[in-house]
Amino acid sequence: MAANPSRGNPYPVTRLLLLIVVAFALISVVHLVLDWQAMAKARKLKNPDPPTAEAIASGLASYQQHCQSCHGKNGDGKGEKASELSVAPGDFTDAQKMAGFADGELYWQITKGKRPMPAFQHKLTDQQRWELVDYIRTFAEKTKASANVRTVIHESAALRLFHL
Ligand code: HEC
Repeated sequence: MAANPSRGNPYPVTRLLLLIVVAFALISVVHLVLDWQAMAKARKLKNPDPPTAEAIASGLASYQQHCQSCHGKNGDGKGEKASELSVAPGDFTDAQKMAGFADGELYWQITKGKRPMPAFQHKLTDQQRWELVDYIRTFAEKTKASANVRTVIHESAALRLFHL
């Protein structure tokens, strides 16, 4: 009787596939953990370029050249390329969302990218990326300022209404 090559292992192909799937799953888990650790570390980075008028002006120049096409002139995520993307670009005018990001976290996302957003690690210097953090923060400040103006207008309208 001829020897059965698959004896003791009746499903060699299935086993191999299973092994590949498990290996991929493990690799992605390791990847996720490393990403998460890197981000946790980045959160604690201190911004070496505080938002001076010069830093913000320089951030604006980089923004117009590299970011505006997706994130929009007003930082609302409505750039001309936005509709072609699989994921909507971040809206920097959302003051509540932006307050939840540490400077280091924004810097990290600009550095490493976030698909479909490209990485800027090799396209912009460290200083340019920090200046971009300073610049994109100005969009939420504008939102907060106009919300305050609206509150004042509403309050003064209410005062007039009730003759207070
Ligand atoms: C090709 C389009 C594209 C370009 C160019 C681009 N981004 Fe993005 N960006 C995105 C998309 C899409 C996301 C959301 C990704 C997600 O949520 O997974 C994003 C997310 C971000 C985030 C994370 C915060 C958030 O609101 O989600 C930051 C910070 C950011 N971009 C900054 C920048 C800066 C600064 C530049 C220019 C140097 C830039 N991006 C260029 C598409 C782009």
